Amino acid sequence: MGRVLAVVSQKGGVGKTTTAVNLAAAFARRGLKTLLIDVDPQGSVRYGVGLQRGHPTFGFADYLNGERQLREIILPTALPWLRVILAGSVADEADHAIYQQLIGETDVLKDLLEMAQSRCEIVVVDTPPGLGNVTRTVLRGSDHVIVPLQCEPLALQTTPQILRGIQDIVSTNERLALDGILLTMYDPDSGASDRVVDYVRKHLPANIVFDIMIPRTIAAADAFAAGLPVVVRTPADPAAQAYVNLSTILAERMS
Ligand SMILES: Nc1ncnc2c1ncn2[C@@H]1O[C@H](COP(=O)(O)OP(=O)(O)O)[C@@H](O)[C@H]1O
Ligand SMILES: [Mg+2]
Repeated sequence: MGRVLAVVSQKGGVGKTTTAVNLAAAFARRGLKTLLIDVDPQGSVRYGVGLQRGHPTFGFADYLNGERQLREIILPTALPWLRVILAGSVADEADHAIYQQLIGETDVLKDLLEMAQSRCEIVVVDTPPGLGNVTRTVLRGSDHVIVPLQCEPLALQTTPQILRGIQDIVSTNERLALDGILLTMYDPDSGASDRVVDYVRKHLPANIVFDIMIPRTIAAADAFAAGLPVVVRTPADPAAQAYVNLSTILAERMS
C-alpha cells in the first residue's frame, strides 16, 4: 500500500501547489511510483507540472461528474514515474456548487484515494485553501499532511486555525500524521521573513516545524511560469535542493 500525502493550508498563495508539484517530482525522481492529484478547482497543478503539449485538460472534476473514465484522467508527465490527475473542468460558479455537492454526497474522492494508494507508492494531493469539505475529505483518506507557511507576517494569523482543524481531523483518522509546517518563500534578506521564522520556531513545538525551509528564489518562480517543477528545470537552485532534501526525509518516514 502506498501513502497519501496531503498539502493543506488556510490561505492561498503560500506555496501549496509549488510544494505539491515539486515533492511529487522529487519522489518520482527517486524512482518512487507517484501520482499527483489536484482537487483544487483553481487547477494550478496544470500549469506547473510539466505536461506534454496538446495534453487534454480534463481531470478529477470530469471524473467526479461522471463524464470521464478514470483511465482518461490519469495523464503522463515528463517524468516516467510521475502521473497526474488535473483538477479538470470547474469553470464557473454553477460547476463549483455541483463539485462541492458531489464531493459531499458521493464516495468518489475517498474511493479514488484508496485506488491510487493501492497502485502507487506515493500519492500527493494538492488541495484548495482552507478546511472546507474537499480538504476534509482528502484528510480523512490521507496518511500524511504538510502545511506550507509563507514567511510573511500575515501568515501567522491563519496558522492556529488550520492547525486546530488538522488536529481535529488527526484525532478522527488514526492513520493521519501531521508531518509538519513547512516554511516557504523564505527571504534571507528580509527582516520580516526572519521575524516569522523566529516566531514560528519559538511558539510551535519543534517536532512539527521542518528544519528545512524553502527559500524564495527567482528560479522557483520562473520554473512555475515555464510550466515545470523547479526540481526538474533548475536542480541546482536552492529551492529545488530544499524540496529534494524534504523528499528524502519524507520518503524515509513513509517507507
Ligand atoms: N520558493 C519560491 N520562490 C519563488 N516563488 C515562489 C516560491 N514558491 C511559490 N512561489 C510563487 O508564489 C506563487 C504562489 O505559489 P503557489 O504554489 O501557487 O501557492 P498556493 O498553491 O498556496 O496558492 C506562485 O506564483 C509561485 O510561483
Ligand atoms: Mg494552489
